[in-house]
Amino acid sequence: MTTFTSHSELESFNWAVEFSKQLKPGDTIAFFGNLGAGKTATIRGICKGLGFNGTVCSPTYTIVHEYPNNPPIYHLDLYRLDGSCDLEEAGLDRFLDSDGITLIEWSERLENGIGITYTVNIEIVNETERTITVLQKSPEQPELPELQQ
Ligand SMILES: Nc1ncnc2c1ncn2[C@@H]1O[C@H](COP(=O)(O)OP(=O)(O)O)[C@@H](O)[C@H]1O
Ligand SMILES: [Mg+2]
Repeated sequence: MTTFTSHSELESFNWAVEFSKQLKPGDTIAFFGNLGAGKTATIRGICKGLGFNGTVCSPTYTIVHEYPNNPPIYHLDLYRLDGSCDLEEAGLDRFLDSDGITLIEWSERLENGIGITYTVNIEIVNETERTITVLQKSPEQPELPELQQ
């Protein structure tokens, strides 16, 4: 678990640019935090760090934005989905199994058992201060060394 204290939107953005450097194709990052916590601001930094220079905004009404990038980026916002969300039922499970990077706002709506790589929890301390906590969920098993003959 790592924790970062941010004092501005720019600090959150810059932190996210750095955080993005450890991401690998196929990773899924679940964001938690209230409205205005800075989920989208942080995702902007991740997209920038991954090489995407276009516009990044919450796909609140469309649920998903796909950003052309290598690796591709899928930006989901589950805010408008009621209750806990079965991604398969919502037709969204294809993003989890993809080779892209999937960034999910309002992960409170996710059903349990989804293959998440990291959770990013953003807590509002005051108007400009945020506590960002990252948890790596399922660290990849190291490859077993080849048996020497
Ligand atoms: N330290 C900070 N980190 C991120 N955003 C901040 C911070 N301080 C203030 N803000 C403001 O909080 C708001 C965050 O908005 P947004 O990223 O859209 O939140 P969310 O997607 O979680 O609803 C922006 O208006 C931003 O300027
Ligand atoms: Mg948002």
